[in-house]
Amino acid sequence: MTTHNPRQRILQFLPSLSPDMFMPGRVGLSAHFPFNDPTVRYFYDARTAIYQWARQWNSGDWEILFPSYFEGVELNALLAAKVRPRFYPVHRNMRVEPAEVLRCLGPKTKAIYLIHYVGFPGPVQELSVACRARRLLLIEDCAQALLSNCAERPLGSFGDVAIFSIRKTLPVPDGGALVAGTNGACNLPRTQPSPLTPAVAYAAASLRRHFDLREEHVNRWILRKMADIGKLVFPRSSAWGPARRESIFDPAQATWGMSCLSRTILNGQDPENIIERRRRNYLHMRSLLSRRAKPLFEELPSGVCPWSYPLQVDKKEVFLSRLLECGVEGVNSWYANHPAVPKGVFHESEELRRTVIQLPCHHDLDDADIRYIADQVNKATRGYARTVIIETIWFLLTSSRCSVPDLKRRTPEFQRNSQSGFRRGLLMAGRRVDRNNTYVFEVAPQRIAEIA
Ligand SMILES: Cc1ncc(COP(=O)(O)O)c(C=O)c1O
Repeated sequence: MTTHNPRQRILQFLPSLSPDMFMPGRVGLSAHFPFNDPTVRYFYDARTAIYQWARQWNSGDWEILFPSYFEGVELNALLAAKVRPRFYPVHRNMRVEPAEVLRCLGPKTKAIYLIHYVGFPGPVQELSVACRARRLLLIEDCAQALLSNCAERPLGSFGDVAIFSIRKTLPVPDGGALVAGTNGACNLPRTQPSPLTPAVAYAAASLRRHFDLREEHVNRWILRKMADIGKLVFPRSSAWGPARRESIFDPAQATWGMSCLSRTILNGQDPENIIERRRRNYLHMRSLLSRRAKPLFEELPSGVCPWSYPLQVDKKEVFLSRLLECGVEGVNSWYANHPAVPKGVFHESEELRRTVIQLPCHHDLDDADIRYIADQVNKATRGYARTVIIETIWFLLTSSRCSVPDLKRRTPEFQRNSQSGFRRGLLMAGRRVDRNNTYVFEVAPQRIAEIA
């Protein structure tokens, strides 16, 4: 069993690279979609694939129906290709209603863009039938859904166009894939080689994380020495930095292809193991998290290869920094509203932006890692409830007499948590002094936190 020292090791959100992935003889991905599709094209990342495809496809200012919940960089790539978005709602639990999507169709709509969130399939069967009947294109965004299936068919194979972000699921420095058949993909430009130094720097950092995780100190030392030599040979430090910036589409990189390093690493993957391990970690995490940490998806349908373990929490920045202090890297996902989306229209998507975080559950983590993450999340959820109680009690102690309706009106946290242990803890901390549910709070905040 792995031992954990939170001050020394961080359980990272993305999987790391191991030396055996460079050895020949692994299964590789060539038998799996999209790698086995004869029309697949590789790019530096998914945003580049989207941009190149949209530039070829769009003749005049065509419109795409686009979900109201999205990362931002995929839309920026479409906007750079002069495609106009028209938004459809995404509901709680990242649910998309096909009938509602179709009601949003306008006279200039030529395509529907569907994101398979976290590897879980959107309503792709219904929408592909509807699109065919209306002669619209269906674009599947599988950036988070590599190796995921729906009804025993790979995601990305239902629509007319599919894009994948290989680097999100696998430990490669770069890589995006496009499957578009003849749908606007006839004249895609030839890609240029992308710069090798950022790819090598990424691979070295990823190997170091692998050695850190397994506490392989000798390998880590050798790697550090090799990096020092590399920096002596190529002294320009800027060349070692990452070429890609999160959420930004840079047209200067629009013709970059996938690096040869990524291709080599892809040949060293074991897809069956990746799918099996990710599913196992997801289910394991779900079984360990307390009831306070509600999952976004109730079930893990067969065939789904989960990209992460999404969770909804209040005050997500506080929650994530608390996790990081314990050595768990979570992601504050999609928190920023995009200026193209009208504010106050898509309430449930805005709620998702405010509350969703992603926890790691990738194939590089073992059972002990998942136990550790779940433990920290459970502690952080309890800690969060405590913080809220302390804050509320401070407020109450300054005006120590308070009725329950008064409490509800003045403290939004009380309202939101009225069914939970929070309410019980709060009322236990006070003393009811009359029939109108007036409470007096006399104990110190720390004591109240313990009761809760
Ligand atoms: C849904 C979605 N689509 C597309 C992309 C773009 O992927 P890449 O970072 O490989 O360009 C992202 C990236 O975060 C994404 O989340």
